[in-house]
Amino acid sequence: MDKRELYLKNRKKQADIDGVVCVCKQVTERKIRKAVKEGKRKFVSVKRATEAGSSCGMCQPIVEDIIKDELSKK
Ligand code: FES
Repeated sequence: MDKRELYLKNRKKQADIDGVVCVCKQVTERKIRKAVKEGKRKFVSVKRATEAGSSCGMCQPIVEDIIKDELSKK
């Protein structure tokens, strides 16, 4: 199983349980949305604030989608 398959499998399991988007750092969607609400507008600043995407990086596209979605609500 490659890194991406492993990520997708673990993310699905954890997203169902508690909304974890970043499996490596156990960062939830809620935490990412909160960081955007607090003024983080780019992946890099959300990564710095929450640690999402700071390990294997497989969650980056999903984190970016959440940021985009949250910013579109403003
Ligand atoms: S899932 Fe590995 S850094 Fe987010």
